[in-house]
This record gives sequence, C-alpha cells and structure tokens, in this order.
Amino acid sequence: MLIGRGFSLHKYCYICIYLYNIIGVLYKMTRIAKDIIAGNDFIVNVFDAKTHDLKDNTQLYEAFESGWPVVIKNLTIPQLDYDYYDDLPDWTIPDNKWIMPWYNSHIKKRERMRSERNWTEEQIDLFHKKHKQSNNGWNEVFDMLFPRYKTKERMLSHRYNTLVENKLHLDELDEQHTGKEQQIRMFVQLDKKRPRVLSFGPDLERMYYDYKDEFKLEELDKNDVHKFITDMRNRCVWNEQKWDQFHHPLHYITFNPGDIWFFNAQWITHQIVFGTKLQCFEADILNESLLKPELCMVERIKKL
Ligand SMILES: [Fe+2]
Repeated sequence: MLIGRGFSLHKYCYICIYLYNIIGVLYKMTRIAKDIIAGNDFIVNVFDAKTHDLKDNTQLYEAFESGWPVVIKNLTIPQLDYDYYDDLPDWTIPDNKWIMPWYNSHIKKRERMRSERNWTEEQIDLFHKKHKQSNNGWNEVFDMLFPRYKTKERMLSHRYNTLVENKLHLDELDEQHTGKEQQIRMFVQLDKKRPRVLSFGPDLERMYYDYKDEFKLEELDKNDVHKFITDMRNRCVWNEQKWDQFHHPLHYITFNPGDIWFFNAQWITHQIVFGTKLQCFEADILNESLLKPELCMVERIKKL
C-alpha cells in the first residue's frame, strides 16, 4: 500500500517505530536540569549497572563521599517485589502533608497500616513479608556496593504517600547520631508509571560563604552538628523572607522507575517536587571507615 508517492505503509510504520524508540530512550533517561547560573557548582554522578561494574567500585565510594547526588541505573534490588509496590493504590494526604515514613517498628506494631490505609490483617501480613524481603535485598546490595564500609545501624523505611512541592530543606538526624558516623540514605523509585522529581539548592558550604555576613553565620556553633544544620536552615532557607521556595538556584533531577539514588541530605538542600512511591535504606557508616574521613559532616562543618 502506498501513501503518497513512493511512501509505503511499511516505511511509515518504520518511521513510527523509530520515533517511538527515540521517545522511549528519552523517557528512560534520568533527566538533569541545572539552574541557568549553575556553572560547575552542581555535580551529578550517574552510574549504569549495565555498563559499570559497581561491586566495591572506588568511583562509587568517592561519588558518595563527595556529597553530590549519585544515580544508579539498571540495578535491580534482589528479592524486592517491584510489581507489588507499584500496584499499591495511590495515597494522597489532605494538604499534601508530610508524614513520617513507615519504619520497622511501625510495621511490627501494625497500627499505622490499619489507621492510615485501612488494611486488613492479611494485607498487613503481606506487607510485612515484602518488607522483610526488601530489607534482605537492600542489605545484599549495600554489601555488594560498599563492603569497605563499617556500619553501625541499618534501616529500611517506606514512603508511599504522594508528595508535591515540599519546602527546600536539609535533613536532620536525631540525637542518637553523635557525629561519629556518616549516614547514607539510598532511595529507589518504585512507581513504574511516574518519575520522582527532586530539586537541589545550595550546599552548606555555599550558603555559609554567601550569607556569612548577611545572617551573621559566624556566631553559629560549629561543634554542635545538629544545631548548626538546623540554624543554617532557619537562617538561610526557612527564614522570614521565605527562601524555601524559588529563591535559591535550583537544579532538578527526574528519577525514573527503578532508579536508585543517594546524596548527602544533611549537606545539600533539597526539595521534593513530585513523588509517589519509594523506599529508603539508610546506614550509619563509621567515619573512620570512609575512604576520606575528612569528608564526614563533623569535619566538613568544622572547616567552614
Ligand atoms: Fe530530605
């Protein structure tokens, strides 16, 4: 069959498939959009498990310790039932309120699953089983990627409520974290239909030097890591001028289904633009087992 002169249906289909493939490739790419003034002050390291041997790979350690966002593509977490999590119904919370992720203790107690999701005991049993499998898989992945790290505590948490445009922030650790360990938080995007979009603002160093005089940052106590992070956030981001939205230069990363990523969430300001289902695996790495212990938070803050 001909469509116009010399243009067969066969050719038409061929072009369609070609375009479809290009769009498909674009869709599968992790997309990074830097703020127009970014220059070299925002770095993202992308590793593809298909082309990189990520087992105990020094480059991956260095990328993590730099604090900049790291994305790992095409790495499947063993035992994690991707279909199960993708099939969980969407969960929206009025006013887009942030709620605490589900930790192991919540899953054991079951109450949050009953009250927040109305799940039956069978549904909670199944979730608990999937949680244990995922946890085993994450530990396996962590030990494969970072066998040189000595960890104190490891924890898997779950976040399945939709979040839209929360405040630019820094993560704060609880008081049990004394500063002798560097936390890694690794995430996996579990929604197969939609990406997760994060924006990243300036890191502590950048803010400290940019706003040292304006906000009298030199008076902050650098020996108290917890307080220093909170004070920096309050003065430079959650301030009266409301700099938590669209003030600082923002760089966007779109994480696609299955992507794994991590960054130093205490060091770099970040914000969720859109996100639905993910798991977070956190581990407290003893500072002395870092390849460069001088890059742990305590030391970085002291050097400012
Ligand atoms: Fe955060």
